[in-house]
Amino acid sequence: MKAVITAIAHHVPEGVYDNNWFAQKIDTTDEWIKTRTGISERHFAFEGGLTDIIVPAAEAVLKQRGITAEDIDCIIIATVTPDRIFPSSAAILQRKIGAKNAWGFDLAGACSGFLYALVTASKLIESGASKKLLLVGGDKMSSIIDFEDRTTCVLFGDGCGAVILEPSESDEYGVMDHILRMDGNGEVHLHQKAGGSMRTPTIETVTNKEHYVYQEGQAVFKAAVKGMADVSYEIMERNHMTADDVAWLIPHQANLRIIDATAERMGLSKEKVMINIDRYGNTTAGTIPICLSELYQTNKVKKGDYLVLSSFGAGYTWGSVLLRWSLEHNEKA
Ligand code: UT7
Repeated sequence: MKAVITAIAHHVPEGVYDNNWFAQKIDTTDEWIKTRTGISERHFAFEGGLTDIIVPAAEAVLKQRGITAEDIDCIIIATVTPDRIFPSSAAILQRKIGAKNAWGFDLAGACSGFLYALVTASKLIESGASKKLLLVGGDKMSSIIDFEDRTTCVLFGDGCGAVILEPSESDEYGVMDHILRMDGNGEVHLHQKAGGSMRTPTIETVTNKEHYVYQEGQAVFKAAVKGMADVSYEIMERNHMTADDVAWLIPHQANLRIIDATAERMGLSKEKVMINIDRYGNTTAGTIPICLSELYQTNKVKKGDYLVLSSFGAGYTWGSVLLRWSLEHNEKA
């Protein structure tokens, strides 16, 4: 038995902010952001919490699958920007959508959160512990970025993707293989300095802007190029696949140059690489499920296609998943 995706949707806040919006506030240009990252615009919600972004996506997957929230038995939210440190955003979402029969939890895997959670959730389904699981990857990065720091604020966006996972008698679809990695030495290069138990919030931490994303861009860039390319190539190789066998690479959307390096290492042509960083920026745990949802909505993925999902982010955490697509053609697209 394997876990398969039986519905998928995404949601981003309405507010769109292009590069010129930043250029009016800080020392940056549309040209710099586009050429160094591939980003043109991103969505921000300056009001509400993460679960306000998730509710529309959660309701959309339930509707698409033709079930109610009460049918869901487990909720997992991959995020680093929960509504609160506790209770979990899974619990808050459970109340908001009325999934009264579900237990659940948040999973903090940063940019690899969706892949970590997809593998975890698949194991819950495959063990029989869950029959209908609502899995969300998403972040409200606007809540943790310093809008005066040009080296980070232009990179991120808000958004989420949601899927329903269910058991399938067939072993032909779902997560066929995964490689998940972690290296805690990456902490120094990418973290949030204060707010957790190591450095609790004080007037000083707020004054010092320690509650925002701290990133040494070049160090992360170098590690990401190697990490994401390595695992993407490795998962193909160990499954005896060539670029011809892969329908799509679904990479984490942090930087177009990292994505290009990964595709090049795999020998994949540009037409097989899902890219939407230009419109959404880096939504952290949201990038991969948003990409998958857009592919499905535009009918660019067919049942039986082999997809390689790849990510790299804070921790460091990184990984790849070989997913065989389980949904039929999207009639409503
Ligand atoms: O998803 C989580 C994982 N994160 C990542 O994967 C991000 C990995 N890192 C990156 O994508 C890139 O390192 C960045 C996009 C963050 C930065 O690009 P870069 O090509 O590595 O630029 P840099 O940090 O080497 O900076 C080059 C120059 C610097 O100026 P000087 O020192 O050469 O005068 C920066 O101050 O660009 C400057 N700069 C900017 N200029 C205009 C940095 N940010 C900006 C900006 N606008 N927004």
